[in-house]
Amino acid sequence: MTQDNHDNGPGLVAQQVFGPQAAVYATSQVHIRDDSLESVERMVGAGVGSNRYGWTVDLGTGAGFTAFAVAGVSDRVVASDVTEPMLRQAQRLGQERGIANLALIQNAAEALPFAGESVDLVTSRVSAHHFRDFEKALDEAQRVLKPGGSLLMADSVAPEDDDICDWMNAIELRRDFSHVENRKISRITGMLTERGFTVMENDYPRIYLRFNEWTARTRVSPEETESLRRDFVQAPAATRESFQVAPVHNDIAFSWPCWVFRAVKG
Ligand SMILES: C[S@@+](CC[C@H](N)C(=O)[O-])C[C@H]1O[C@@H](n2cnc3c(N)ncnc32)[C@H](O)[C@@H]1O
Repeated sequence: MTQDNHDNGPGLVAQQVFGPQAAVYATSQVHIRDDSLESVERMVGAGVGSNRYGWTVDLGTGAGFTAFAVAGVSDRVVASDVTEPMLRQAQRLGQERGIANLALIQNAAEALPFAGESVDLVTSRVSAHHFRDFEKALDEAQRVLKPGGSLLMADSVAPEDDDICDWMNAIELRRDFSHVENRKISRITGMLTERGFTVMENDYPRIYLRFNEWTARTRVSPEETESLRRDFVQAPAATRESFQVAPVHNDIAFSWPCWVFRAVKG
């Protein structure tokens, strides 16, 4: 596969990366359950009114784990993703779990096929850093949500330090050419405010990863894997500390910071 991070339509690069690896994501422990999913569950449970949502849309649903987590508090969940093999995994797992109120659609987060002010809850977990145009996706969430509706996002974020932020994004891009950007919380907050969202709840879990599994999941070449391994071990002390980099037997443990927030449309 050739590396192409230029804007060639929302989701085309993502489909190249995620399509062949859909079954791997369906069994990935960090996607099946982690602290960020627990935060999502807690926040939807603590949602407005009766803690029930009518229509929920999950963006970049992947194998569907976030859609499944919100199905119990929603009348109807639409699990959407740009990659068709991912949706097939979500359909299979949803059936296995007996989730009856789940619909699936293939579309980009940047162009939602829903009427304005028709959706009660928009969710997205560990997907937004892949969206080719994150601000367009926020515009779309803002458009389709009813006034008072919630946008609940969980995603890896970059530290506020410029050098550490750049290191993280450069590393991520070498490991996954569909990576677009891990943003600083301060930047995302500004984007939300510009669109009239008010952040009501926050959580800051870590995403705990192991280097060998993390590079295998995106099929990094052996040469690049070794080069990335060196860069983790030899990173500046402040960077290693920020990402909790720790060599463990033939592997490297590390963690990305994550921000989970529920924002309400004004
Ligand atoms: C890491 S997976 C998502 C994991 C999932 N949300 C969960 O909770 O387990 C990222 C997903 O984002 C999807 N994606 C990437 N760019 C997208 C876009 N512009 N619009 C919609 N989905 C996109 C990919 O196809 C992939 O399935």
